[in-house]
Amino acid sequence: MTTRYRVEYALKIEWIKGLLAVPFVLHSQPTAVFEPNGQSMDTQASNARRRYAEIFRDVEDIVNDHIEHQKAGKPERSKLKLLVPPVANFFTPLALHDAFSFQDERRFISYRRFVPPSFNDVRLILNTAQVMSLVRNGPLELVTFDGDVTLYDDGKCVEEDNPVTEKILRLMRRGSKIGIVTAAGYTEAGRYYERLCGLLNAIQASPMPLESKQNLIVLGGESNYCFRFDANSRDLLRLVPREKWLLKEMMLWAEADITELLDIAEASLRDTVKNMKMNAIIVRKERAVGIVPQVGLKFCRETLEETVLIVQKILEMSDVGQRLPFCAFNGGNDVFVDIGDKSWGVLACQRIFGGIEGSKTLHVGDQFLSAGANDFKARLACTTAWIANPRETCELLDEIALLDEWQQRKTV
Ligand code: IMP
Ligand code: MG
Repeated sequence: MTTRYRVEYALKIEWIKGLLAVPFVLHSQPTAVFEPNGQSMDTQASNARRRYAEIFRDVEDIVNDHIEHQKAGKPERSKLKLLVPPVANFFTPLALHDAFSFQDERRFISYRRFVPPSFNDVRLILNTAQVMSLVRNGPLELVTFDGDVTLYDDGKCVEEDNPVTEKILRLMRRGSKIGIVTAAGYTEAGRYYERLCGLLNAIQASPMPLESKQNLIVLGGESNYCFRFDANSRDLLRLVPREKWLLKEMMLWAEADITELLDIAEASLRDTVKNMKMNAIIVRKERAVGIVPQVGLKFCRETLEETVLIVQKILEMSDVGQRLPFCAFNGGNDVFVDIGDKSWGVLACQRIFGGIEGSKTLHVGDQFLSAGANDFKARLACTTAWIANPRETCELLDEIALLDEWQQRKTV
């Protein structure tokens, strides 16, 4: 279930799911499981596969038409915009037809007689379509990752045996730059070392040239603190001073505005904690304010969402909220309001690495369900993949490697 008012991104997946429901209803053969002379599994699957594939080809064409309108400066006139009004701009086409075949071979979607193509099927097909396009029009120059739920389980860290480490090293060896764009906001390198030690130690130990090792940066507090890999630092990360990486627009974020916005957010959080009788601790930082539960407690999802929606609305209605970008989100068992958001974090990574384009950048994250979820904003700066857990991140990185191999064989 998604919270009302915040279903926009999910709606695009729901739209595709709705298109696939028709051939499923018309052509799936559920009675064949008890009627011995019913249609064979292979016949039903190949019928369904052909029809699903046609739909993905059609959606791919509709996306291409939208891209043409974007290029002409009139995205609002595209058919896709009429069908799915909240649709954003596309940085690349989506290889939806081929992505469907790829995922169907793994998930046996067209073999199913009782369970129609699901939200997760479509989400994973969209991810595959995105990485197929990126690899085909490669090279993929920058991959940014969220932290919690994407690289490690919520609130945990990258330990020595986390399989994602080897896959990130593989990306670095083939020349991609890496950004960890996390909401976790700390001023000291040591706190990030605690969370990323498995990855940082592995980079340190790898025979990669020193210069390539520096192709990993951490953007903490969404867009507030930048650290770069440094083999000579105790924590393997070195703080990069703000004046070295802030974008022009970010330099205009006035300290007085930051304080004012956080004061308003803090007052709203305090109010909700009181009204909803939450056992919460208020955490105020230099660039964020949040609520975390008393040790051992768990807030329910609805309370967390309510808290986010209230603080977001109050900030949106305030003058300072019009001047200063912010991100209010539900972190699973906490709520935070950060100054800036992940679109600024990704833009900063692109700039630090010499001006990488959105069409050459992929952000991988878990928070896309709603407008206030923190990875959602990255979609403004680059292409994105929506994963549900760290295992899916690993699978996505394996897909990239496999597609890359195919692509290289094709070009040899
Ligand atoms: P992410 O999934 O990597 O973006 O991390 C989000 C989580 O980081 C939140 O749910 C919090 O538990 C934690 N966190 C720690 N410090 C901060 C902060 O300053 N702002 C936002 N989140 C923070
Ligand atoms: Mg996350």
